[in-house]
Amino acid sequence: MALNYIGSKLSLLDFIDRTVRSVITEEIGVVGDLFAGTGAIGRFFKAKGCSIVSNDIQHYSYVTNRKYIGICAPLTFQGLESELPGLRVAKDKARFVLEHLNTGTEPRKGFIYENYCEEGTRGQAHVRLYFSNENALLIDTIRQKIEGWAIDRKIDEDEYFYLLATLLEAADRVANTASVYGAFLKTLKASARKRLELVKDEIIFSDKTHTLFNDDIRNVLNRVPIDLLYLDPPYNARQYDANYHLLETISRYDHPEISGKTGLRKDTSQKSDFCRKHRVKQAFTEVVQKTRAKYLLVSYNNEGLMSLKELQEILALRGTPKTFVHAYKRFKADKTENRNHKAESTTEYLHFVKCEKG
Ligand SMILES: C[S@@+](CC[C@H](N)C(=O)[O-])C[C@H]1O[C@@H](n2cnc3c(N)ncnc32)[C@H](O)[C@@H]1O
Repeated sequence: MALNYIGSKLSLLDFIDRTVRSVITEEIGVVGDLFAGTGAIGRFFKAKGCSIVSNDIQHYSYVTNRKYIGICAPLTFQGLESELPGLRVAKDKARFVLEHLNTGTEPRKGFIYENYCEEGTRGQAHVRLYFSNENALLIDTIRQKIEGWAIDRKIDEDEYFYLLATLLEAADRVANTASVYGAFLKTLKASARKRLELVKDEIIFSDKTHTLFNDDIRNVLNRVPIDLLYLDPPYNARQYDANYHLLETISRYDHPEISGKTGLRKDTSQKSDFCRKHRVKQAFTEVVQKTRAKYLLVSYNNEGLMSLKELQEILALRGTPKTFVHAYKRFKADKTENRNHKAESTTEYLHFVKCEKG
């Protein structure tokens, strides 16, 4: 159950697949997805039998990718057997544990309840309505339970990231926002009034090695050899850290300093150069010049900070770019929040380069 995410390529998988098959005839061993977001691309190539190198600067994305890319075999949750009667004989262990978290845990208030729901923020300078009171409490309860199990070594890393990513997805479904977390709605919308529920979904099992990072792309570029490097940078000035600050805080659960009406994290270390008009060209050039991948595939659209010509010039540093075009329906958040966008669709480009120069 993927996050509803700006720039998700879920609906473009077919276009990307067709393009890759038209330009690369040899078998691809390792695919790099180093602006991974929801991991849609990594998942797709994992299912095709490739090894994946996944990275994103945001922690919630890393956690999501640890779930969908990192986990390769069924989870047993063996360490919870003494705490959860019935687990040992349960056929579907993951579902059993999720059901327990959904209903069987002692409520425990925490950072989300205290800062992001009406009851918890009443009497404070800013009353926030990002979640219903019940859901904010559930998020804290489940988040703390998962952390406790990890600290007590009752769950291993795969189980930890599986549960945490599933909580992030569940929280996102009941968030009281138009789509991103830059603002909350004044009254609880219907989906935000529903009780939060952890839902099981399937993981693609795999016998390949997958590597996951949570860093600036420039720090991880060549840590693992990559055949096909897919680049899907942010297109515009809308920073992901601000737009998804609540997912980041639930994911890290680091009790950050927050400020203002929306309770934004004060830490700005995740601001991306790829969202800055005066820095994006240099940052992108650095990635293109330094990668040792054989092939480069880049997603970008006609409304990005870099123009088509600028992007093609940068890619030409490594070979002859081929450009593929696809008309694409605009992401919901762009329509609801950027009302200056008149066009219903944008043009998505895929640029392919075989790295022969540089
Ligand atoms: C367009 S989205 C990727 C969407 C993804 N392909 C999907 O299908 O969900 C861009 C991603 O780049 C990440 N990002 C931004 N700056 C970054 C940087 N300097 N290094 C690594 N990741 C970065 C953002 O957090 C965001 O998840």
